[in-house]
Amino acid sequence: MTNHVRIYEVGPRDGLQNEKAIIPTDRKIALIDLLSKAGFERIEATSFVSPKWVPQLADAAQVMAGITRRAGTGYAVLAPNLKGFERAVEAGSDEVAVFASASEAFSQKNINCSIAESLVRFEPVFEAAEQAGIPVRGYVSCVVVCPYSGAVAPQAVRDVARSLRDMGCYEISLGDTVGKGTPDSIARMLDTVAESVGADHLAGHFHDTDGNALANVEVALARGLRSFDSAIGGLGGCPYAPGAKGNVSTLPLVRLLEERGFSTGLDLDALEAAERYLSDLVAGLEMSKGTS
Ligand code: HMG
Ligand code: MG
Repeated sequence: MTNHVRIYEVGPRDGLQNEKAIIPTDRKIALIDLLSKAGFERIEATSFVSPKWVPQLADAAQVMAGITRRAGTGYAVLAPNLKGFERAVEAGSDEVAVFASASEAFSQKNINCSIAESLVRFEPVFEAAEQAGIPVRGYVSCVVVCPYSGAVAPQAVRDVARSLRDMGCYEISLGDTVGKGTPDSIARMLDTVAESVGADHLAGHFHDTDGNALANVEVALARGLRSFDSAIGGLGGCPYAPGAKGNVSTLPLVRLLEERGFSTGLDLDALEAAERYLSDLVAGLEMSKGTS
């Protein structure tokens, strides 16, 4: 089994969507450019969702137009429907991600429709993506706990992940949206999902609310997963998941993987520079909150 682990940097999307303040577009672009220097295969740069639902990312097209693209890095975005996909293509996105949920309550709150309706809504996205030759990744949120309805059964996660895989997602990222997963609950969920979808088509997306994210990554590694989402500086959350904290932080994840003998191909100095930039940016936002 390969010892290469792919780290999918989601900070500019999962992180910045959750900041209360609207971050200036040029700062977002500068952060993505610093991250590009670290050598990621994929950076999730922004979302083409409704600007009414997520005003923090209303500047998605300007962000995509302003970044300096590094050869070897694909710039991915979220697209919840065909309109989002068309905007994503127009902006030159290299990959799109559709996002579903294993919890009905979260699906309604996050994308305003049932799980079944969301899958129907994705069908034209898959058709258009196939024609355009754009890879589609899929997310399943609430893989262990839903912030509105509590515990989620592994079988519910398996069914949505299987549907996304059958529809054409090359990889399904399993989101512990509220970061309440423990090594035991993540292991139970993964055993059920990997049996149906295959570990080589799965990624872990672990928010770190309770500090278990790195332990959950280890559980997933032991089950053969070799793809993980993380956010520089541990930034992140979801505006429709109250209480959710940031994603697992990129630098500690890379250090853990390297200690365990896995390669990531990422440049630690470049990651440190991106993290410093982000921490100055966030400190600046805190200060301007304090003075306003
Ligand atoms: P809706 O209101 O039901 O949509 O929202 P609609 O189809 O009825 O359209 C209403 C209006 O929105 C129309 O405009 C559309 O054109 C417009 P109007 O006629 O009123 O002027 N619209 C759009 N505009 C721009 N881009 C679009 C788009 N689509 C419709 N793509 C919708 C449904 C899905 C659009 C909305 O609920 C939405 O945008 N939700 C996104 C929520 C979101 O981004 N959440 C965070 C990301 S998910 C996450 O963080 C979890 C994850 O990290 C994994 C994990 O941690 O678990 C991925
Ligand atoms: Mg997330």
